[in-house]
Amino acid sequence: MTATYDVVNPATEGVVETVTLTSAEETDAAIGRAHSAYASWRAVAPADRARLLRRFAAAVDADIENLAALEVASAGHTISNARWEAGNVRDVLQYYSAAPERLFGRQIPVAGGVDITFKEPLGVVGVIVPWNFPMPIAGWGFAPALAAGNTVVLKPAEVTPLTAIRLGELAREAGIPADVFQVLPGKGSVVGQRFVDNPDVHKVVFTGSTEVGKAIMAGCAAQVKPVTLELGGKSANVVFADADLERAAAGAPYAVFDNAGQDCCARSRILVQRSVFDRFMELLEPAVQGVRVEDPSLDSAEMGPLISAAHREKVASYVPDGAPVAIRGDAPTGAGYWFPPTVLAPVDPADRSATEEIFGPVVVVIPFDDEADAVRIANDSPYGLSGSLWTADVGRALRVARALETGALSVNSNSSVRYSTPFGGFKQSGLGRELGPDALDSFTEVKNVFINTEVT
Ligand code: TAP
Repeated sequence: MTATYDVVNPATEGVVETVTLTSAEETDAAIGRAHSAYASWRAVAPADRARLLRRFAAAVDADIENLAALEVASAGHTISNARWEAGNVRDVLQYYSAAPERLFGRQIPVAGGVDITFKEPLGVVGVIVPWNFPMPIAGWGFAPALAAGNTVVLKPAEVTPLTAIRLGELAREAGIPADVFQVLPGKGSVVGQRFVDNPDVHKVVFTGSTEVGKAIMAGCAAQVKPVTLELGGKSANVVFADADLERAAAGAPYAVFDNAGQDCCARSRILVQRSVFDRFMELLEPAVQGVRVEDPSLDSAEMGPLISAAHREKVASYVPDGAPVAIRGDAPTGAGYWFPPTVLAPVDPADRSATEEIFGPVVVVIPFDDEADAVRIANDSPYGLSGSLWTADVGRALRVARALETGALSVNSNSSVRYSTPFGGFKQSGLGRELGPDALDSFTEVKNVFINTEVT
């Protein structure tokens, strides 16, 4: 019997669509087709591959409202976020459409001849995507992979496959051959596992939990298969006493409650210098209570529901009876997996709410004494993905930025993702970099060729 999955709207609990799941045999057949298509795709002239990617970007642009509506219905994203996410896929495609004509090698001075390097594609790239940002994370994998001349098989999260399926249709409409970019909805333990085990997949790009990422890395090691890993986070938002406290407090809720906190970059630990702790909490309260948690299809919505009932239960376990709830926002009641924005303070830095990734709208606020103390607490985590720091002192901003063990940091700002700059984690937050110029290195191998010019 064919296995199916009912995609559920997290805001209403109604079924949106039933999707057929790809089996292990079908996955292997798709990988085989991607493998066969590789030779012709890498041979497409650079300018033509660039043109196809630009047409794909234009098709996504023309479909933004439809893609956004699908994400609101199937993932509970706010409509404004979902429009941004679809636009991000367009922008990432547009950015990497410049790459086929700019994959430069080098000419290296050597004795007796000419030495040149080429950036060769890898072959079939398997991209495994989580449910929290189904569109952008898919695009961060497939756009540079295709641009560099690889073919791609993409597995969306089982619970959020609809926008990935639509992106696959748009790629075909744009003229990308069907076997060059295939979307395979299915289970991680089935489809994702075949990406790891099938030797015709030459690289795995995985975004998801640190636990599954470790298993994927171990599985890929058996074939020395390269991996890019984007994993969990427990990022710090560090507020020094000399900062613009009004701005820091006004922005802090959105830096953690955006996408209902289901964001690997969520600044889920706010570290505040002790001398301004009480003032910061006074400013934070109205900012948290002002976050609009409502039907995500409304233009005014700033936060929607969590992805599932099971996930809501997990998030709730970090706020047991008696937890030190300092501030609590509002959330709808009734159908839907709602959870209110919640601020815990004071919290012992060793408490599990301060050390584990909650992946929900729960933030802890921790005081610190001085710069060294702030750096020590911020770095006291197995993760190191993103973070913010707020200060008026440029020297301190640079010192602390250099001292924090994290991959994507912002000063007097909470933004960590731009398609033109590298993104990825230190420590157990990941391996390799996505986006920006660096990502292309993850989808190519350097080949060195020496040409003898000696007269024989
Ligand atoms: P996971 O459970 O790790 O799932 C991620 C993806 O891996 C899903 O597509 C899943 O498939 C698949 N998968 C599960 N088991 C697999 C296996 N044995 N082999 C191959 N694939 C497998 O994570 P999640 O709960 O969806 O996502 C939340 C996590 O992702 C958080 O920890 C978050 O921090 C992290 N995340 C990180 C980033 C970056 S950029 N660092 C971005 C977003 C999310 P199923 O759908 O079938 O489970």
